[in-house]
Amino acid sequence: MEIKNRRVFLKVVTAGMISFFVFIWNKLTLQHIETSGSSEATLPLNKNKEVQFFDRFIVVNTNDNTRVFSSHCSHLGCKIDKVANGKLVCPCHGSEYDLNGNVIKGPAYKNLTEVNSTLTNDGKSIIVKG
Ligand code: FES
Repeated sequence: MEIKNRRVFLKVVTAGMISFFVFIWNKLTLQHIETSGSSEATLPLNKNKEVQFFDRFIVVNTNDNTRVFSSHCSHLGCKIDKVANGKLVCPCHGSEYDLNGNVIKGPAYKNLTEVNSTLTNDGKSIIVKG
């Protein structure tokens, strides 16, 4: 009887520890994604720059086309803040994306999230919703 109680106790403790670590892992890796909620921001647009980095967004200008992507890597959410050889590079584990937000090198396997955006009438700013 005592051995059975010990096994049940160990199972409960193990399940609790696993739940705790999963909770902490999600908080650490997804915290900034959760806080990025839906909001609107107006960003200054420099059409002379192919790529502009902002806190939560990356603005890409190619051939008169302006697109906005989340700056959070699709792997574990690190902030992408570098472009090298025409590729967006994540500083954490080296994932690379082309300027259309497509993964070209892992460990990320999902493309960057594109954010809805609208150019202002004067073309000097871009309004992003995301
Ligand atoms: S978080 Fe970007 S490659 Fe891992």
